[in-house]
Amino acid sequence: MAQRIRKAVFPVAGLGTRFLPATKAMPKEMLTIVDRPAIQYVVDEAKKAGIEHFIFVTGRNKAVIEDHFDVQVELEQTLIQRDKLDVLEELRQDLPKAGRTSFTRQQQPLGLGHAVLCARDLVGHEPFALLLPDMIMKSDKGCLSEMMEIYHERQGNIVALEEVPMNETHKYGVVKKGQRQNGSVEIETMIEKPAPGTAPSNLILSGRYILQPQIFDYLETQTPDSGGEIQLTDAMIKLNNAQDQEFSGLIFKGTTYDCGSKAGFLAANIAYGLDRPDLAPQIIEELRELVSAYDGKTAQ
Ligand code: G1P
Repeated sequence: MAQRIRKAVFPVAGLGTRFLPATKAMPKEMLTIVDRPAIQYVVDEAKKAGIEHFIFVTGRNKAVIEDHFDVQVELEQTLIQRDKLDVLEELRQDLPKAGRTSFTRQQQPLGLGHAVLCARDLVGHEPFALLLPDMIMKSDKGCLSEMMEIYHERQGNIVALEEVPMNETHKYGVVKKGQRQNGSVEIETMIEKPAPGTAPSNLILSGRYILQPQIFDYLETQTPDSGGEIQLTDAMIKLNNAQDQEFSGLIFKGTTYDCGSKAGFLAANIAYGLDRPDLAPQIIEELRELVSAYDGKTAQ
């Protein structure tokens, strides 16, 4: 039987320079999508998939993430006094159970692979999930839940994949898929950020992984790339080449918002806003007006 996936790692140490000045004093993971911090969406996805323990790899200036996943006693008392019990209940639902969060720091910006390696002791010797919080993946079931289904069937390592236009592949890890078709694909090879025009396909690694703990052995000995970063994908290639390891891919059919980009972040706000019956009519009206004013201006 497949060993249960109990723990998820969230690398949240990045400086968020693309969102300056918003991220000068506030972690990018706390920027709001409608009225919830971006990181909450990713934690919710993990919770829905049955994750019990949430491991955050943080850095300096990230302490409010820890506060966000803690009880705010004064706020709770105020909400009780003001009889806002529904809001209080929602806040409590967002919290992982007591003792089920861990925080460790990536002391130097040495790349995603290094951030994952920092979680090694907290993960221990068991398979785990890894969720990159920049990628907000919207679907009814939840991307990680779908990956869990494949994991229970096939075990090994599972990655989420998504098709992008060929001219965007250089921004991501890209895979070459093999034959298997029933719900999941076999991963033959992977390459991190291929030079434009050299990608083996347009299927990218879209930020969700289920990994066997042997990944840490490869990460530990991984030499940094030309930019001084330890790449997770390079360690995954080695793990994939190991005799007893297999990588399967889930081609995600929901919508992914790359919130590492400003356009993706704004689109996520609109998409989640439109999900809210209290907001949707007004958003649609505003958007219609904005688009027609924009079209009018550009037609001149
Ligand atoms: C990382 C991974 C890359 C993946 C991407 C998804 O890149 O290294 O393989 O496709 O996340 O967002 P980064 O965005 O950290 O440059």
